[in-house]
Amino acid sequence: MTTQEYKEMVDSALAEYFASAEELPQKGLADAMRYSLLAGGKRIRPMLVLEFCRIAGGDVEASLPVACAIEMLHTYSLIHDDLPCMDNDDLRRGQPTNHKLFGECTATLAGDALQAEAFGTILRSSLPAERRAACAEHLANAVGLDGMCGGQFLDMIGEGKQLTEAELNEINSRKTGALLTAACLMGVAAAGGSREQEEAAAKYGASIGAAFQIRDDMLDVLSTEQELGKPIGSDSQEHKNTYMALLGKERCESMVEKLTEQAKTALCRAFEDTDFLYALADSMAQRRN
Ligand code: IPE
Ligand code: IPE
Ligand code: MG
Ligand code: MG
Ligand code: MG
Repeated sequence: MTTQEYKEMVDSALAEYFASAEELPQKGLADAMRYSLLAGGKRIRPMLVLEFCRIAGGDVEASLPVACAIEMLHTYSLIHDDLPCMDNDDLRRGQPTNHKLFGECTATLAGDALQAEAFGTILRSSLPAERRAACAEHLANAVGLDGMCGGQFLDMIGEGKQLTEAELNEINSRKTGALLTAACLMGVAAAGGSREQEEAAAKYGASIGAAFQIRDDMLDVLSTEQELGKPIGSDSQEHKNTYMALLGKERCESMVEKLTEQAKTALCRAFEDTDFLYALADSMAQRRN
């Protein structure tokens, strides 16, 4: 499959979720959830789930709910990340942020509900019970105290302080790397893949995850709002520690390049058909949005 085919597959599956809430008194919450979920986005995490499932010998169709689940979780993290008490941003995926349209209370609840629905979607899927459990555990590990939420907390308390490169790596491996790594691991788990495949997937995920946040920090400075679909200059406005501020553009570029090569090397022994994931790593390293 191509990235476009995967994206279409994910987009049309996501459109089915929470669509039957029309008659419910809490319809307004479903509207807020669907607004951000269907607002676009590159769908990188679901794509990683589907492709890792495929190359680990699994049934791609059967792993589609797991792919949708990680996008729900990711969308929750974006809604909360944009809130005034966090990064205070007005634009996301080329549209007004959730709280701008629905208000802060509803945006908070939309994030909360998307997180619960992500786990529900995995647990209600037709995968064998032990694979569902493994996927849910990977996701929980990536999001909780040691994962995304832990990283977001460190990001917040680091604002306005001068952190070291090692401290920045620690923040970013949690706030961004953990979920990208989980996507890779969940794909292998959905397929019932081997320990060796899991280890390779985790290494690939950690490397593209590190490169991804460096690139994100670069784009906050170098891109345009039009191209990025989110505000530029948000990081300096919020006094964030970023790779751009700490290391500058050239060092960022060479780190992204090195990490991308590292990601590819991680895969070669455990999997045969790695073309898609090599190309995806390259396109993520050069992405413009
Ligand atoms: C943005 O993630 C948040 C970070 C982890 C840096 P993406 O760049 O994957 O955002 P979407 O899903 O394409 O909007
Ligand atoms: C946040 O990183 C990553 C998340 C956990 C959502 P950023 O705050 O840099 O993400 P953007 O730039 O707003 O997408
Ligand atoms: Mg943030
Ligand atoms: Mg942000
Ligand atoms: Mg950013």
